[in-house]
Amino acid sequence: MLELSLSTVFFKFVVINIALFVVLVHGANSFTRHDFPPGFVFGTGSSAYQVEGASNQDGRTPSIWDTFAQAGSMHGDTGDVACDGYHKYKEDVQLMVDTGIDAYRFSISWSRLIPNGKGAINPKGLQYYNNLINELISYGIQPHVTLHHYDLPQVLESEYGGWVSRKIVKDFTAYADVCFREFGDRVKYWTTVNEANVFSLGGYDSGNMPPGRCSPPFGVVDNCSAGSSSTEPYLVTHHILLAHASAARLYEKRYKDKQHGFIGMNIFQYWFVPFTNSITDKIAAQRAKDFYIGWYLNPLIFGDYPEIMKKNVGSRFPAFTSLESERIKGSFDFIGLNYYNTMHVKDKSSSLNLKIRDFFADTGVELIFVRNESAYEFPITPSGLVGILEDMKQHYGNPLTYIHENGQRTRRNSSLEDWPRVKYLHAHIQSLLEAVRNGSNVKGYFEWSLLDAFELLDGYESSYGLYYIDLDDPDLVRQPKLSAYWYSHFLKANRSFSSIGFIKSLSHDYFSH
Ligand SMILES: *[C@@H]1O[C@H](CO)[C@@H](O)[C@H](O)[C@H]1NC(C)=O
Ligand SMILES: *[C@@H]1O[C@H](CO)[C@@H](O)[C@H](O)[C@H]1NC(C)=O
Ligand SMILES: *[C@@H]1O[C@H](CO)[C@@H](O)[C@H](O)[C@H]1NC(C)=O
Ligand SMILES: *[C@@H]1O[C@H](CO)[C@@H](O)[C@H](O)[C@H]1NC(C)=O
Ligand SMILES: *[C@@H]1O[C@H](CO)[C@@H](O)[C@H](O)[C@H]1NC(C)=O
Repeated sequence: MLELSLSTVFFKFVVINIALFVVLVHGANSFTRHDFPPGFVFGTGSSAYQVEGASNQDGRTPSIWDTFAQAGSMHGDTGDVACDGYHKYKEDVQLMVDTGIDAYRFSISWSRLIPNGKGAINPKGLQYYNNLINELISYGIQPHVTLHHYDLPQVLESEYGGWVSRKIVKDFTAYADVCFREFGDRVKYWTTVNEANVFSLGGYDSGNMPPGRCSPPFGVVDNCSAGSSSTEPYLVTHHILLAHASAARLYEKRYKDKQHGFIGMNIFQYWFVPFTNSITDKIAAQRAKDFYIGWYLNPLIFGDYPEIMKKNVGSRFPAFTSLESERIKGSFDFIGLNYYNTMHVKDKSSSLNLKIRDFFADTGVELIFVRNESAYEFPITPSGLVGILEDMKQHYGNPLTYIHENGQRTRRNSSLEDWPRVKYLHAHIQSLLEAVRNGSNVKGYFEWSLLDAFELLDGYESSYGLYYIDLDDPDLVRQPKLSAYWYSHFLKANRSFSSIGFIKSLSHDYFSH
């Protein structure tokens, strides 16, 4: 879900106009899903607030997303109805069957399952997730479930500040326990927290995502509700890592032997490329990697934060005790990565001279998004996907990895013939195959997203779906786009399109009647 506009507001980059190279798709680029190893899963994704709707039905209470959107922060767009997935889940599972996916990534709304954030389970919430899971399983579709996708129960935010407080560790673990106990007989893939790095930055430094906290002179919104951009992002990440490790250790100890499942954590990934060949830019690119990615991967894989972060952040940086470090290190079966595009990195060490700094100033880098400014879509940079997987292999011991999100942004109301998405997916899946063939330990790919959903940075302005939903249609009918046919063709007919002519004929067949 992370997209152009996030970067626009958030990373204060410089835009450079370049020619977007047309991705030429010809015979030599043909590949099939059977070129991937047996057991490799292809799926699509969603998250609770973005698709479920029914925001105040059957006992659900607000999450921090409801509060944020209802305050008008998304130009009036909210997930109150979204795709009405709460009522249309059977129809949506049918779309997945038609498309031919192996696996579906979705999240559980904590405040639907446990309306007070802790304590009693909401029977209707429990029923909904059981229904959805059973429906998926009945068609042989693997559920891959995220526990926290930006949507902490508001009640916990109000009570003690949510992720800012260490109390969250206990409540998150108890919530995870309920999920493992109730659903773990059928759910084998658990992700504790989605895009933990972006959640910490958007919610507590820039303030443009819930809970919308930040402090002057930082933040990209005029009036942050409260907070400290200098300290809270680090504190929140610290608590997320502790909460993740606590839930993962619980799973390992109490459930894994019986349920035979896997647990992991998800982070957002850019591929960082030095802006020039200068040594300072090369070092800056490494620093960006350490700050955005190493912030999470180093504790998970090596047991501690990167040295450069400790140095630059200084006394504002929380530290792990040796016991905590041991619990976090290795507390995962897989790492989930969300990749959309590449960022160029320029040295900006001067920001380290500022007396008051936030995360972005602490990095001492400037991120530059090289793109065609007049295009709404992402530039297609699949080499970045190869880059991040190669980096996982060379620097992080090649852990089991899932590409949890990857997809193309288009305008919500643009054509059903979504060529930019087809080209994007083709290019990235092809590069993924290269990485797999070169030894990357990646076992699945989830296109973002199944449906045109409520997008976390754009509301209903942008879309990523294989299926379009006209928001003015009271029935919210799902309509397949060209990308749905392309993906389905790739998954079921054992070939990707092999020529422009072929995809045109595919398009003609599907859209001429
Ligand atoms: C930039 O994008 C616009 C809109 O998609 C397109 O018309 C134009 O040809 C692109 N320019 C270049 C140089 O690729
Ligand atoms: C921010 O400012 C706007 C416009 O003045 C106001 O409507 C809104 O309630 C404010 N939000 C907060 C969190 O103070
Ligand atoms: C789609 O929406 C955008 C932004 O609201 C608008 O500028 C554009 O004209 C619309 N396009 C169509 C085809 O309705
Ligand atoms: C393939 O993997 C090897 C070993 O990790 C690496 O040195 C090489 O650069 C990789 N090739 C590509 C094309 O990524
Ligand atoms: C696709 O290939 C697989 C494995 O080679 C085979 O089992 C399946 O029947 C093929 N499907 C079609 C539609 O050709």
